[in-house]
Amino acid sequence: MNFAPALLQALRQSAHVVVFSGAGMSAESGVPTFRDAQTGLWAQYDPTELATPEAFRRHPKRVWDWYAWRRELVARARPHAGHRAVAALERHVPQVTVVTQNVDGLHQEAGSRRVVELHGNLRRIVCARCRAVVPQTAWAPAGPEGVPRCPHCGGLLRPDVVWFGEPLPADAWRAAQQAMQTADVVLVVGTSGVVYPAAGLPLLARERGARLVEVNPTETALTPVVDDVLRGPAGEVLPALVRAAWGGEGNG
Ligand code: APR
Repeated sequence: MNFAPALLQALRQSAHVVVFSGAGMSAESGVPTFRDAQTGLWAQYDPTELATPEAFRRHPKRVWDWYAWRRELVARARPHAGHRAVAALERHVPQVTVVTQNVDGLHQEAGSRRVVELHGNLRRIVCARCRAVVPQTAWAPAGPEGVPRCPHCGGLLRPDVVWFGEPLPADAWRAAQQAMQTADVVLVVGTSGVVYPAAGLPLLARERGARLVEVNPTETALTPVVDDVLRGPAGEVLPALVRAAWGGEGNG
């Protein structure tokens, strides 16, 4: 792959690189994006209609079961070369922040140390009523709704993710904004840029003078505002980029 010399230079001179990732970052690890067609058991459902508080109120067991299935997918998934390239940035750049919309924890598994999870984490289960984090060993048996209950207050358990229509966790949102405001380069990887407020974050960085770089096989809503467009899958483009900027294997 050929990269603009100005991009490579900007990376090498960066004091702070932010990686802003979306579902496409995990695609090559086998975690399907929401906007991919679903297959098998869940093909008849639209994920954007399962990931809502209304869906959980009306069909708690269906939503719980869908997330149980996603948790299994994620448990089997492993970080790919792109995740490793992101983690390897920490050896070359003084400060690296990953701001992710993903809920699978794959950036952390690859070794990234500063990860801001804007949409929560699928592996963490909380009480929908009292918000206590409840490890699986402490789940109280399911009642008539078919969903395990909180051992403290009896509320229904749910994944600690942000559903459509719910606010983002305030501390993560603050950390993400702060990161964007001090970024020199933002790598926008695998996100369609249509889900707000997260999609507005790269613009915040741009206002403060950051260079925006899109890594995505296809055009997105953010393409018109980025400085560099790197067309291709994250698992190929990111290691090649790190290799071009600093040499070596590109993945540590
Ligand atoms: N490498 C990089 N990008 C990829 C790859 C890949 N291998 N495969 C697909 N993509 C791109 C697609 O072209 C698309 O632009 O990833 C993007 C995925 O878009 P979305 O599914 O809309 O994911 P995202 O932007 O993260 O959505 C935001 O909405 O899906 C919900 O809550 C979920 O956090 C998510 C939010």
